[in-house]
Amino acid sequence: MNHKLLEGKKGIIFGALDENSIAWKTALKIKEAGGEFTLTNAPVALRMGKINELAETCGTTVIAADATNMDDLNSLFEQSIEKLGGKLDFILHSIGMSPNVRKKKSYTNLNYDWLHKTLDISAMSFHRVMQVAYNSDAMNDWGSILALSYIAAQRVFPDYGDMADAKATLESIGRSFGYHFGAKNNVRVNTISQSPTYTTAGSGVEGFKEFFDYADKMSPLGNATAEACADYCIMMFSDLTRMVTMQNLYHDGGFSSVGMSPALLMDATATK
Ligand SMILES: NC(=O)c1ccc[n+]([C@@H]2O[C@H](COP(=O)([O-])OP(=O)(O)OC[C@H]3O[C@@H](n4cnc5c(N)ncnc54)[C@H](O)[C@@H]3O)[C@@H](O)[C@H]2O)c1
Repeated sequence: MNHKLLEGKKGIIFGALDENSIAWKTALKIKEAGGEFTLTNAPVALRMGKINELAETCGTTVIAADATNMDDLNSLFEQSIEKLGGKLDFILHSIGMSPNVRKKKSYTNLNYDWLHKTLDISAMSFHRVMQVAYNSDAMNDWGSILALSYIAAQRVFPDYGDMADAKATLESIGRSFGYHFGAKNNVRVNTISQSPTYTTAGSGVEGFKEFFDYADKMSPLGNATAEACADYCIMMFSDLTRMVTMQNLYHDGGFSSVGMSPALLMDATATK
């Protein structure tokens, strides 16, 4: 790709853990498109993941920040603006984790301490990130902020557990903060609702492989890959989408609009 859609733009990318992460692929494409950024992840992920490799490839730095900790976030924004030499044009929130899903607690038997964690890490962190950016006046006019969501916010996918509630809250936070950020300095806020994708977070969901295959057949274009999601993020960070805000944008090969798939129907009748 030889466009330079993000030339001169600066930002922060949350959530690159390893080469499968959606944030990892997005970082590579942002670099290619001429954007500059700092990378961040939770301290534990910095110890376990490979983010330093990505930083080296992209010629950037990693700043540790637990997205549930306001001191970490304030320091992250301060350091990022200093390192990048100016205010920000884009933020990617690519963070999700549910202890209940990870420990296979069903939706009807949730551990409520863990539910607090799920909501704090996967949804409230989006508000925290934006509140820090808003109050420290960290965003340039016409900046763009994105978070990643999943269609379980609208429809029931039983094994997605309490992450469904986190995603519904995340999308609502995107809409609500989008109003305030738009009115303040024309910054847009959107969520991208992505197809099932093989990553650490994705494949932690029970029955992920079966569900991935089902969604692939249900979608006329097939499941959207992480690379395709990264391309969509580039477009949303570019000046070509300046008037899109407060939206939940489906990036799912058509899955969200399909009622019935002949391919799946054929499978079902063949097994009768
Ligand atoms: N993989 C899928 O099927 C899929 C589908 C739709 C949406 N999403 C969403 O995409 C986003 C990125 O996930 P992914 O699939 O790339 O998986 P991933 O596991 O690579 O990324 C999740 C990231 O969240 C980070 N994180 C967890 N707790 C954190 C904390 N306290 N502070 C800061 N960072 C923290 C992890 O370290 C990791 O880097 C998530 O919001 C996820 O829900 C994923």
